[in-house]
Amino acid sequence: MQKNIVTRYVKVNPVNPEAGPLAEGGLILRRGGLVAFPTETVYGLGANALDGRAVEGIFQAKGRPADNPLIVHVAGREAVGGLVKEVPGVARELMNAFWPGPLTIILPVGKDVPAEVTAGLDTVALRMPRHPVALGLIRAAGVPVAAPSANTSGRPSPTTAQHVLNDLEGRIDMVLDGGPAGVGVESTVLDLTAPAPIVLRPGGITPEELCLVLGTVEVDPQARFANQGEGRPRSPGMKYTHYAPRARLLVVEGRAEAVAVKIKELAGEYRNRGKRVGILSYEDSADFTNIGEVIMVGRRAQPETVAEKLYAALRCFDETDVDLILAEGIDDQGVGLAVMNRLRKAAGGQIIRA
Ligand code: TXA
Ligand code: MG
Repeated sequence: MQKNIVTRYVKVNPVNPEAGPLAEGGLILRRGGLVAFPTETVYGLGANALDGRAVEGIFQAKGRPADNPLIVHVAGREAVGGLVKEVPGVARELMNAFWPGPLTIILPVGKDVPAEVTAGLDTVALRMPRHPVALGLIRAAGVPVAAPSANTSGRPSPTTAQHVLNDLEGRIDMVLDGGPAGVGVESTVLDLTAPAPIVLRPGGITPEELCLVLGTVEVDPQARFANQGEGRPRSPGMKYTHYAPRARLLVVEGRAEAVAVKIKELAGEYRNRGKRVGILSYEDSADFTNIGEVIMVGRRAQPETVAEKLYAALRCFDETDVDLILAEGIDDQGVGLAVMNRLRKAAGGQIIRA
């Protein structure tokens, strides 16, 4: 893949971003370039959503399969106009409740959106991010911004500007560094074009929170179990291996005590075969330090802190020489559902029940 442009790196204040870098980024976007920026979930790689050629650049830079559509980011509800056919009442209620924030909604696509964004689907994904840098950049650009996560396709999503540079330096025009992203896992993708609202990808807004507005919400079985290959996924992105570190990853799920026993047993077996083992665990887990390379991501009962640290931890394992990562599962509650969806996908569906 080509790596021949100079990527401009600029630090910005995450709370009160300076006007200069935002204007510069906005201009690059308007002229068809690519700018990576922080959002409250993960870093995004933006292009002018109204410019099919600019959007194509995103697919090239990431090595992203062309049939995986992008989310269009807006800085306000009023910008949704030509992007969709209509805004049904339920969409309006959801926007009022969760925008700006980590909720992406899918609606019938409008006339302004080029086919490159939607991968030819008749629907479009929309989100208004909450991060001041993201909002400032979109406003400065003066156009809606199509943006996937700013990682090489298949790798864990970036939660820092350094992650972005590691993957995409030389392939994109600019990175705005606004410090670590907040939630740590991507937005919730909610399809409003199905007979009933359905979560295609669990994320920063939990099903429990959606229920407060919708009364009830379906969760796509694929989003829960990340079983690949069974039927056609409703969200094209769900069919690809994702979020994966370089080493093979296995998820071990069950009660904490049983998981600890299973991990020790598996680690022993692999070590006997001369393999180096990494363990993704928690501060309140059993002590695994003498059986492998341990990275801890918060406490099991606090899925928010696990989400925040998850992708950085997966990338950290890439800096070690481990051959296999054993990851402890956590409860599917709250943001835990998004965490487990990403872990199960990183494992390519290889789940071990303890
Ligand atoms: O938090 C986020 O959502 C981040 C930040 C940058 O905003 N973005 C992000 O984008 O995660 P990406 O491209 O990595 O994931 C977008 C997901 C994919 O699974 C894609 O298949 C799905 O949304 N998607 C996009 N448009 C869709 C559509 N029209 N119908 C169904 N799924 C769609
Ligand atoms: Mg992504």
